[in-house]
Amino acid sequence: MAQTTILPMHCLYGIFLEGNLKINKNDQDGMKIFKENIKKFTNELDELDKKSPQSRIGGAICFSSDIWGTITNKISKPKELKSVNTLSSYMPGTSQRDILIHIISDRMDTCFKLAQDTLGNFGDQLDIKQEIHGFRRWEERDLTDFIDGTENPEGDKLRTKYGLVAAGQPHEFGSYVFTQRYVHNLKKWNPVPISIQQDTIGRTKVDSIEIPKDKRPITSHVSRTDLNENGEDLKIVRQSLPYGQITGEKGLMFISYSCSLHNIEKQLQSMFGQLDGKHDLILQYTTPVSGGFYFAPSKKELSEL
Ligand code: HEM
Ligand code: MG
Repeated sequence: MAQTTILPMHCLYGIFLEGNLKINKNDQDGMKIFKENIKKFTNELDELDKKSPQSRIGGAICFSSDIWGTITNKISKPKELKSVNTLSSYMPGTSQRDILIHIISDRMDTCFKLAQDTLGNFGDQLDIKQEIHGFRRWEERDLTDFIDGTENPEGDKLRTKYGLVAAGQPHEFGSYVFTQRYVHNLKKWNPVPISIQQDTIGRTKVDSIEIPKDKRPITSHVSRTDLNENGEDLKIVRQSLPYGQITGEKGLMFISYSCSLHNIEKQLQSMFGQLDGKHDLILQYTTPVSGGFYFAPSKKELSEL
């Protein structure tokens, strides 16, 4: 079974915590406590789910390439897992951290409780470098006011296919995770005429209808990310949420889960000019300020670290 942030759809709130592990590889007692804290996290998730199923609580603990061997000697590293810093030559804002804790729910109180209890348990073992609280907006619109998620794989079957390592493969039901925090420049975006905004995204603004391929720019966001390779769609499962303040900084906390790191890396190459020299038009209005690759082991693997 997969960790529980991947299959659920339309969550209303999310907390995204990224940070570094503060335990030495040789500190066996420290590592033991660390693993007990992971167990406390999964136990509390189960308890909250039983007490309040309507909260639709979900959680995942995910590890970077560099930290994998410290966390576990028993389980091999997922073969595609690497540091996002390997992409820093073309992608701004890359900032690989050791650990990602992702929590989703339809209630902020439940999200907050699990996040606070979990960080309380880890204490000095984790140095959190970025904490973001995401929320769903009206009609599931991103802060650009375009509906986000229209072409996201729907339902357990498709989300399993594109979001999880396939059954029978090493690390089955695990997932390659990518996070990237974007800061929007809405002062620049909001006055842009709607026809140009629509060309930028590649869909209509009111009802999110896809503009036909030959009628939208090759640099539109949809054209940059709707990729096909040898007849296979390179899809990902997105769980991004808007974040920020009405009077302050705001943007999109992007997060994707995928069966293969290749799918998301190809999309990034396509957005950031590495496939054909062309950049995604949305990058004129929004800037990535953080980013990392992680692996979310299956529930079973997480319990056996
Ligand atoms: C589609 C917004 C970043 C991958 C979309 C859509 C919107 C959107 C409005 C169209 C509706 C939909 O199908 O969901 C944004 C914004 C971003 C952002 C505002 C950053 C500020 C990214 C990044 C990736 C990505 C970094 C991956 C590298 C996708 C994919 C689709 C999509 C795969 C669906 C394409 C299709 O198959 O039609 N995004 N996005 N997005 N986006 Fe993004
Ligand atoms: Mg499409």
